[in-house]
Amino acid sequence: MAAKPVRKSTAPRTSAEKPAEAASERLVWKPGTLEAPLPPVLVTCGTMEHPNALTIAWSGIVNSDPAMTYISVRPERYSFDIIRKSGEFVINLPTQSLLRAVDYCGVRSGRDTDKIADCHLDLLPGAKVSAPLILQSPLQLECRVRRELPLGSHHMFLAEILAVRVDSRLLDDTGRLALERAGLIAYVHGQYFSLGKVLGKFGYSVRKKR
Ligand SMILES: Cc1cc2nc3c(=O)[nH]c(=O)nc-3n(C[C@H](O)[C@H](O)[C@H](O)COP(=O)(O)O)c2cc1C
Repeated sequence: MAAKPVRKSTAPRTSAEKPAEAASERLVWKPGTLEAPLPPVLVTCGTMEHPNALTIAWSGIVNSDPAMTYISVRPERYSFDIIRKSGEFVINLPTQSLLRAVDYCGVRSGRDTDKIADCHLDLLPGAKVSAPLILQSPLQLECRVRRELPLGSHHMFLAEILAVRVDSRLLDDTGRLALERAGLIAYVHGQYFSLGKVLGKFGYSVRKKR
């Protein structure tokens, strides 16, 4: 029998909430990786002379001071040993104009082809790491691996962000980073999406109305 939903608020339901009440049944599925949306980042590794790129959806920020992130990589990926040996990689944020490269670098291996050349990607040297940046991406995180955690199917490379590289054209007149202008994309359950309109700002729910 379906469990009954519990409501703590005593406020009457709005008309927008009423249909949700009817849809209270929750299916129980086996464990899976259905968190969404995620950024399908382009990770570069190797060197300017011998670069490679692969697409990674299992990535995210895990600490602010020091700034840290992670990528989870299957050991069978060509990039795995490159990242392990060098202890470095670069996260290049994906955009709509990079979408084809994002998909291609996630379905072809650097073992078989030069993906950087195939996708007509231009490289820039890193400031703090030997791994190159992809020029066409608006923002990069230069990362050094601090810990490797074998988790099962994937190994998690926990890494410190040594430098953030930003396309200066994304700074507005006040010097603010206008990342909303970059055309970033999201990955949701096997599909790529563009981002929609701005819905609010950090903290808006508690800000006093003027
Ligand atoms: C959208 C997308 C997300 C992906 N996310 C991951 C991931 O998080 N971890 C991983 O190991 N592989 C992931 N892959 C698969 C690798 O990118 C793919 O196997 C790639 O060919 C590996 O390249 P390499 O052999 O040159 O290292 C993803 C692929 C796509 C298309």
